[in-house]
Amino acid sequence: MAATTSIHGMWSGRLAFILAATGSAVGLGNIWRFPYAAGEHGGGAFVLIYIFCVAAIGIPIMMAEIMLGRRGRQSPINTMRALARQEGRSPAWQLLGWMGILAGFLILSFYSVIAGWTMAYVVRAAAGAFSGVDAAAIGAAFDGFVADPERLLAWHTIFMVLVVLVVARGVASGLEQAVRFLMPALFVLLLVLVGYAATTGHFAAGVAFLFAPDFSEVTGASVLAAMGQAFFSLSLGMGAIMIYGSYLNSQASIGRNTVLIAGLDTLVAVLAGLAIFPIVFAYGLEPAQGTGLVFKVLPIAFGQMNWGTLFGTLFFVLLVFAAWTSAISLLEPMVAWLVENMSFSRVRASVLAGLTVWFLGVACLLSLNVWSEYRLFGMGILELFDYLTANILLPLGGLLIAVFAGWILSRSSSVDEFAMGDRVAYRVWRFLVRWVAPISVAIIFFHAIGVF
Ligand code: PFF
Repeated sequence: MAATTSIHGMWSGRLAFILAATGSAVGLGNIWRFPYAAGEHGGGAFVLIYIFCVAAIGIPIMMAEIMLGRRGRQSPINTMRALARQEGRSPAWQLLGWMGILAGFLILSFYSVIAGWTMAYVVRAAAGAFSGVDAAAIGAAFDGFVADPERLLAWHTIFMVLVVLVVARGVASGLEQAVRFLMPALFVLLLVLVGYAATTGHFAAGVAFLFAPDFSEVTGASVLAAMGQAFFSLSLGMGAIMIYGSYLNSQASIGRNTVLIAGLDTLVAVLAGLAIFPIVFAYGLEPAQGTGLVFKVLPIAFGQMNWGTLFGTLFFVLLVFAAWTSAISLLEPMVAWLVENMSFSRVRASVLAGLTVWFLGVACLLSLNVWSEYRLFGMGILELFDYLTANILLPLGGLLIAVFAGWILSRSSSVDEFAMGDRVAYRVWRFLVRWVAPISVAIIFFHAIGVF
């Protein structure tokens, strides 16, 4: 018989879970990473492959993660060990949880640096620093900012403190309340920005860039990037969604909630693209300009539109919150494990995990300036952590989760946990998770690294 509650607490209900999981999924990945990845990989074809990955790989794996989490009711490491034991399998499955912890550390270390940029931009926007400033000056100001390690360090530190504060308090109090208001507000502001983009006269070019696929541009690397973006954006493959599932009550429908979360996440990413690319074309900017894209493009809009100072400030405030609710889910699996296995208090566990990430984050931010000439595989540390996690660790974690949920866990266990009977929906999930998801991930992965 599976446990019905977690020692770490429970969500107050279905809505709380949806908000928290959407809070985890919607973040810098949608608004910062999706547009720049789409810009670098040619637009339309990337977006189409991304949507295919969300539907055929992301949704079944998200369902699997929530299901495994809810069945195990512990940190991903202990959940995997316990479930493997129940099925008479090797305790080595817990390595999946460890890999997730590593991925969470690496992601959060650079995520916090980028979140720091968004905090700095709140101040800039509020001070009216964008009003009437041209695209070149906005770009130069961004480059100057990133070249300054002290400012980056200050913001990175502030952000990590905020993350540790919430995780130390426990996930259910605080976080739930915040997400309830902030997510809808972010959504509305994105619509305002899309409305502005529509007035630039280049909306059609932006839409065409995002939705008219040119498959002649598609390479193994761009397909891998689209799949990596799907894992990153949906928070899959590292145990964040698994641990959120472990706080979900046994009656909630996993399938319906997953479709809702993945749908909202994709919508926010597409809206961000629709807000950004028309402005890119209106000002003759380069879509493939990498990690600075959003920070160089959106301020132009805020500088030109009516009420730009207000909207700009609000937008970056909301982006900080979106990043915050995602960052929390990156730290939670590690903290839960420290509480379970080391008998740490939540506060102590959060501080320790947060400090570790902070150190890694310092290396990331130095790689943008002082250490910029040190490169590994042609990348600086921040870029390398981003590439390694999104394109390798998360898909690999997702593949193992799919294999475990589809092949190792008994059919009766998954039928029981989904509580939807052995019906068509269940069979579709089972087919996707046993065959489509693992095979697609494996093909994309091996193709991209040049095995065939
Ligand atoms: N999904 C988050 C985003 O799109 O910003 C980032 C993220 C959170 C990735 C949690 C992975 C994760 F486990």
